[in-house]
Amino acid sequence: MTAKKDNSPADEIRILRDQLDRWSHEYYELDSPSVPDVEYDRVFRRLEELEVEHPELITSDSPTRRIGGEPLQAFVKVRHEVPMLSLSNALDEQEFRDFDRRTRDRLDARGQISYVAEPKLDGLAVSLLYEDGQLVRAATRGNGESGEDITANARTIRSVRRKLRGAPPARLEVRGEVIMPHSGFRQLNKNQEKAGRKLFATPRNAAAGSLRQLDPNIAAQRPLEFYAYSVAQLVGEEWPKCHFDLLERVQEWGLCVNKEVKICNGLDSALEFYNDILSRRDDLGYDIDGIVYKVNRLDWQRDLGFVSRAPRWAVAYKFPAQEEITILNDVDWQVGRTGALTPVAKLEPVQVGGVTVSNASLHNIDEIRRLD
Ligand code: IVH
Repeated sequence: MTAKKDNSPADEIRILRDQLDRWSHEYYELDSPSVPDVEYDRVFRRLEELEVEHPELITSDSPTRRIGGEPLQAFVKVRHEVPMLSLSNALDEQEFRDFDRRTRDRLDARGQISYVAEPKLDGLAVSLLYEDGQLVRAATRGNGESGEDITANARTIRSVRRKLRGAPPARLEVRGEVIMPHSGFRQLNKNQEKAGRKLFATPRNAAAGSLRQLDPNIAAQRPLEFYAYSVAQLVGEEWPKCHFDLLERVQEWGLCVNKEVKICNGLDSALEFYNDILSRRDDLGYDIDGIVYKVNRLDWQRDLGFVSRAPRWAVAYKFPAQEEITILNDVDWQVGRTGALTPVAKLEPVQVGGVTVSNASLHNIDEIRRLD
């Protein structure tokens, strides 16, 4: 069911919430999203707009007030001592400029802000807890308040150290992303095909499916990697002054930080970084869907604080979508020189990754039939 314009605001809000809840369940619990992220973002924004216009219709369980899906039943539930929050998005340059302006206004900073720019890795957020240098627990984000205990699976990932190097702190909770690089993803799907098992749609789905294996021996065969991007708890050691220094400490303790991470002084430098990584997106060897910018100074982060579900000191400036939704107007059948028939979809023109697409070859007749 879609939210039609002639519905009352209350009806439209209810329909949008149901839709977002369903998509969130498909994304977080089933690892099988039925719509691309842009569509989710679009509906999410429409709901936000309606809730701004009709604050009396806001409820505490609205998707705009929550963070993700519910944890699965099969794993032990873990309560996060520090909630795992989300990031607000900037969908174009103007929105990113607005973020920078707002942040400077809030900080009353006369000059430019120093940001740490990090590729937004498209995998799963995971928390690793170390006590006296030993890995004692790994957990997924779940709904942000509590996730699932995936310690046994995480231990099988090479870049998740069981024991930290050097002189580790008494207690350290590191957060980061578990991803599957493209090379490993291709190999995994080849093996799946040979074994007659189902193929994974994306590296992210494959990474999620691997972490959700109840048998760690299966997870151990999956080519997963962990990259740290923040620290939630640090006990027995002084906090550095800056986020970047914190990431350096984490590296000294033996964990991986993405090698593209860089300090950008001011807006122009931040925009330059965005364009540089965007131009190399296809050569990185793993999926990213934007750049995360974080105010480098930790005292400024504390001053800025949080709004309902996201920090005010960070933003995810998204890359143009590589997936879109449009209407299939017709299917043309083209006859090749050998007489082979190729179905070509005639699409309502749509912008994808910076180009307009109006035709697409359709290779799979069975799938066309299946979808009628
Ligand atoms: S920071 C409070 N840094 O994006 C800030 N997140 O929408 C928490 N992500 O759940 C997140 N790369 O899974 C951060 N360099 C990065 C990231 C990153 C990917 C994911 C993460 C998080 C989601 C937020």
